[in-house]
Amino acid sequence: MLTHFTQLDHLLLKCQHLWRFEPFHESHSRQHRFSGTPLAAWLDGLSVSDVHTLKHDVSSVYQQLQPFIPELKEIEPLVELEHSSSPPLELNAHLATGIPGRKLEQITAMGSQALLAHSGGEWLEWCAGKGFLGRILAHHSGLAVTSFEWQQPLCEHGQAEAHKQNLPVTFVQGDAFNCDHQNVFNKKQHAVALHACGDLHVSLMKHAMDYQLAALSIAPCCYHLIQDDHYQALSRPAKQSALTLSKSELRIPLQETVTGGERVERHRYQEMSYRLGLDELLRAELGLSEYQPIPSVKKSQLQLGFVEFCEWAAQRKGFELPVCDFLRYQKLGEERFARMEKLSLVQMAFHRPLEMWLILDKSLYLQEHGYQVYLTEFCEKKITPRNILIHASK
Ligand SMILES: C[S@@+](CC[C@H](N)C(=O)[O-])C[C@H]1O[C@@H](n2cnc3c(N)ncnc32)[C@H](O)[C@@H]1O
Repeated sequence: MLTHFTQLDHLLLKCQHLWRFEPFHESHSRQHRFSGTPLAAWLDGLSVSDVHTLKHDVSSVYQQLQPFIPELKEIEPLVELEHSSSPPLELNAHLATGIPGRKLEQITAMGSQALLAHSGGEWLEWCAGKGFLGRILAHHSGLAVTSFEWQQPLCEHGQAEAHKQNLPVTFVQGDAFNCDHQNVFNKKQHAVALHACGDLHVSLMKHAMDYQLAALSIAPCCYHLIQDDHYQALSRPAKQSALTLSKSELRIPLQETVTGGERVERHRYQEMSYRLGLDELLRAELGLSEYQPIPSVKKSQLQLGFVEFCEWAAQRKGFELPVCDFLRYQKLGEERFARMEKLSLVQMAFHRPLEMWLILDKSLYLQEHGYQVYLTEFCEKKITPRNILIHASK
C-alpha cells in the first residue's frame, strides 16, 4: 500500500494541471488550459454523442487519453481493486422492510463482506441512519449491535423496528464529534460505517484506534464534508506529501456519479446550460467579472424557460436585468455546457485516482496503528460509485 500510495502521490502531483480545475469555470473562455495542445484538438473533434458515450465509460476515457497523458498507463493499475467475490446476503421480507432498492443492494453487499471478515464479539454501526445494516448483521451473526446515530427520529424508528424483529440492536443517540465515547466503544467491537461522510468516518477511525477495536469495515463518502478548509492527512506519508486538497478539490472524486437515466441527464443539461448562460449574460451585460453563485433551483422553475430562470435568479440575488438578447445567452450557455463536458472528460480520468489517494491515506493510518488492511469494491459502481470498502482487523 505504501508503494501504491507513493506512486500515486507522485503521479497526481505531476499531472495536477490536468485535474486541479473546475470545468464549470474553465469553460468560460474558448481559450482554456489545454488550448493549442494535441489534447485540445482531440477534445474539439469529439461529437456530443462521443462525449456522452465516454462519460459512461471510464476505461475508454483512460484508453483514449493515454496518447496525450502517458501517465495514465501507470495510474490505471494503481486504482484497480478486487471485486467482492462473496454473494450478497439473502434477506427475508421482514429484514428488507422499508429499505429502498439501491440502499438494499449496498447493504446486502457490504453486510456480506463484513460478516465474512468478522472479528470481535459484537458490532458497532457508526452513523447508522435507521440501522438497516445493523439489523442485518444482528440477524445473520446473532451478535449484539450498537447503532450510533445523531438524529433522534432515526434512532426511534430503528429501535422500534429492531424490537419488532426481536433483534439484539441498541440505538445510542449522540454526536460523533462530541460523544460519551466510553459508553460507545469497546475493544470487542467490529465497527461498520456505510457512507459516513468526511469527518464522520475519520472520527470513527480515531476513536477505534484509541479503543483498539477488533475490526473496522468502512465505506467512505462525501470527502469534502470536513470542518477544516483543507484535507487533513492521517498517515505519515500523506502528511509528508506536497499534495494538499482544498474542500472544493475534495469534491472531484464525487463527480463520478451513477447515471440517473435520460430524464436526469436532460434536467442536468437544462440547469447547467441555464446557469452558464446567465453567467455569460451577467459578465457581458452587467460587467460582473466574478461568477455569481445562484441558489439551488426547483425543476418546476427550470421548466418555465431561460428568461424566467434569469428573472428568478436576479430577484434572488438583487440584480437588475437589462433588456437584452436572452436567446443569444441561452445559446452561449449551451456552447459552454458542451465545452465544460469535454473538459470534464480529462478530469474524469483522475476521479478514481484522487479517491484512491484518500483511501490509501486512511488505510496507511490504520496500518500504522497495527491493523491489517485490505481494500475491495463491495458492489458495482452502478449501485453506488462510493463502492470502496476499507477492511481493517487487528
Ligand atoms: C449518509 S447517512 C448514512 C446512513 C446509513 N449508514 C446508511 O448507509 O443508510 C449519514 C448518517 O450520519 C448521521 N450523522 C450526521 N452527523 C452526525 C454526527 N455528528 N454524529 C452522528 N451521526 C451523524 C446522519 O444523521 C445520517 O443518518
